Amino acid sequence: MKITFLLWHPFFLLFLANAGDTIQALTYDYSATTECLKEAWKAQYGGGIIQNPEFDNGIERWTNFGHGNIKERITSNGNKYIVAINRTQPSDGPSQRVQLIKGKLYAFSAWIQISEGSEIIAVKFRSPTGKFLHGGTVIAEQGCWSMLKGGIVATFSGPVDLTFETNNTSVEVWVDNVSLQPFTKKQWRLHQETTISKVRKQKVKFQVRNKDNTSLAGATITLKQIKSSFPIGCEINEFILNNTKYRNWFASRFSVTAFGNEMKWYFTEKKAVGRENYTIPDAMLQFCEQNNIDVRGHNIFWDDPKYQPTWLTTKIASKKLKKLVEKRLKSVVSRYKGRLIHWDVMNENLHFSYFEDKLGKNASAEIFSRTYELDQKPILFMNDYNTIEVSEDEASMPAKYARKLKNIVSFYREMNGGNKIIPVGIGLESRFAPGQPNFAYMRAGMDYLASMGFPVWLTEVFVDKGENQAQYLEEVLREGYSHPAVKGIVIWPTSPFSKKCKMCLIDVDKHYMNTPTGDVIDKLIAELWSSKPLNISSNEQGFSEVVLLLGDYEVIVKYPATNSCTKLKLKVTEKSTNFVYVHVHGNVCVPNDND
Ligand SMILES: *[C@@H]1O[C@H](CO)[C@@H](O)[C@H](O)[C@H]1NC(C)=O
Ligand SMILES: *[C@@H]1O[C@H](CO)[C@@H](O)[C@H](O)[C@H]1NC(C)=O
Ligand SMILES: *[C@@H]1O[C@H](CO)[C@@H](O)[C@H](O)[C@H]1NC(C)=O
Ligand SMILES: *[C@@H]1O[C@H](CO)[C@@H](O)[C@H](O)[C@H]1NC(C)=O
Ligand SMILES: *[C@@H]1O[C@H](CO)[C@@H](O)[C@H](O)[C@H]1NC(C)=O
Ligand SMILES: *[C@@H]1O[C@H](CO)[C@@H](O)[C@H](O)[C@H]1NC(C)=O
Ligand SMILES: *[C@@H]1O[C@H](CO)[C@@H](O)[C@H](O)[C@H]1NC(C)=O
Ligand SMILES: *[C@@H]1O[C@H](CO)[C@@H](O)[C@H](O)[C@H]1NC(C)=O
Repeated sequence: MKITFLLWHPFFLLFLANAGDTIQALTYDYSATTECLKEAWKAQYGGGIIQNPEFDNGIERWTNFGHGNIKERITSNGNKYIVAINRTQPSDGPSQRVQLIKGKLYAFSAWIQISEGSEIIAVKFRSPTGKFLHGGTVIAEQGCWSMLKGGIVATFSGPVDLTFETNNTSVEVWVDNVSLQPFTKKQWRLHQETTISKVRKQKVKFQVRNKDNTSLAGATITLKQIKSSFPIGCEINEFILNNTKYRNWFASRFSVTAFGNEMKWYFTEKKAVGRENYTIPDAMLQFCEQNNIDVRGHNIFWDDPKYQPTWLTTKIASKKLKKLVEKRLKSVVSRYKGRLIHWDVMNENLHFSYFEDKLGKNASAEIFSRTYELDQKPILFMNDYNTIEVSEDEASMPAKYARKLKNIVSFYREMNGGNKIIPVGIGLESRFAPGQPNFAYMRAGMDYLASMGFPVWLTEVFVDKGENQAQYLEEVLREGYSHPAVKGIVIWPTSPFSKKCKMCLIDVDKHYMNTPTGDVIDKLIAELWSSKPLNISSNEQGFSEVVLLLGDYEVIVKYPATNSCTKLKLKVTEKSTNFVYVHVHGNVCVPNDND
């Protein structure tokens, strides 16, 4: 089989709003940066509905919220921006009134600098009645511009005041190139579909020829998907070992998993220090390998003091803990060496700091380094919650996530040249509370972290029980799958055997039938993550073209008139257009001679 790779330039995304909406180009701007820049970028979307977004007309259209003063300032090369001085309250600073329309999604971005030090700045939209929407945060610094990228979903229609909040009132807040761009739900969905076509699919061109190299018209090309490239997974627990229905349900749907608890320290060394028992995780891993299911190792350590082995007392001396940490690390990482695709190395180290508190600020970085020494295969992940789910949670806000990951990657030890050689990943748990998720914020958070260039995974997708649970789960999965940086998704349902089922996908008491959230998974597997067998036909010149989901296919080319047939395997990758020559010959379906 000959495959010639041609470069395919994706045309620039541009689409029109549906009838009823204003006709305008509504490309979503995924660009963002975690770097603090000497010179900021221009306002995204030309500022959207913000007036005078780049302060070209001084402070026109801007008002001062609260106390203090706002004024225009000009850089040495003539750029104007706005500064808030004499602040006495956290929200004192520049403000602009904008009209929200219920149900629309608003993508926000702005560039912030402060006069001294480094502070968290939040963007908040306050309604006259005191309701407010939190749109995101960034860590602003002195001497350079930081990008605050966030967003809101309007839960009401009416005027709101855009404000910037920072608790340290002794610093001046500088702002430039502000943008607020509304999108309808339809437009948002269109961005998803456009991105899915662009990054999850690829055009494949076939040319069918006879053995003598003349082109063959009217041949039937049958394409059968063997494997999809995009990893969709689901967490499992030890019941998988002895419950056939659970096994079948799981293995027929998913290509990747993580074990709920069974690899955790408190599980493998449960009863007493030194009494390790890997019987269950060993068996679970074996089951996954037998079924071609990749396993994310979850986890080596968990930074939450609540989830340590019961025998690990809080009063343990640092020196002793250090030894135990090395022993645990060596034990579990060496045991599963070469068999895992990822490790969650130090789980939830933004919300918690059990190990940092006892072993020092570099504890996570050191453990990443040591893990890599023991096993170079898995991508080593940070993993935390609320980074893209809850804009108010400052502990795990995207800017702090980026800072921690930079700390880990830049950690240097002479003996191995430092952590920069480690393949690292960004794990976003994606555990949503009941109620309308803030998809504008979710996407902005992914944009921001994606700019670091590491693979992003949604690692524990969950939507808590509440109104529209199934719908919100579907929307979260669509949002994740359609983000160009997301390389895999693992769903984290409640165990179907649990009495308190918050998000069970199947009902074990009702013959393992799908629940409404289980229906969502099956619907999306059919719609997004698998392709049905497909027949296409070669034209006069023997050509045929089709757009396929990335993945592995079996291709059978038949020409009934001469009873000819050729069979080949095709891997559709994201890198290029796949161009496939097929020579048909013989009257039995044998693998192509060039295969
Ligand atoms: C804001 O964008 C303009 C270009 O539109 C640019 O000239 C200016 O320098 C930017 N602001 C900052 C603070 O870099
Ligand atoms: C507020 O910022 C100033 C300037 O960076 C700093 O000296 C001061 O410690 C900060 N105050 C607090 C409470 O963080
Ligand atoms: C300011 O402090 C309050 C109270 O601790 C906190 O809830 C809020 O998130 C802080 N705001 C910012 C922007 O850090
Ligand atoms: C058939 O045509 C292709 C493409 O034009 C060419 O690369 C190949 O060498 C030819 N094979 C034979 C056997 O002529
Ligand atoms: C299956 O395994 C689980 C966990 O090990 C156990 O609690 C349960 O009793 C087992 N069920 C059967 C039918 O053996
Ligand atoms: C290890 O765990 C398995 C599964 O729970 C159990 O059957 C076995 O007895 C345990 N082994 C020891 C030595 O405790
Ligand atoms: C953390 O590691 C860096 C090297 O990357 C080192 O310079 C620094 O002193 C370490 N900090 C602590 C608290 O050990
Ligand atoms: C494709 O064609 C084959 C015969 O070559 C036929 O058996 C099959 O049903 C067709 N599939 C579809 C999806 O049309």
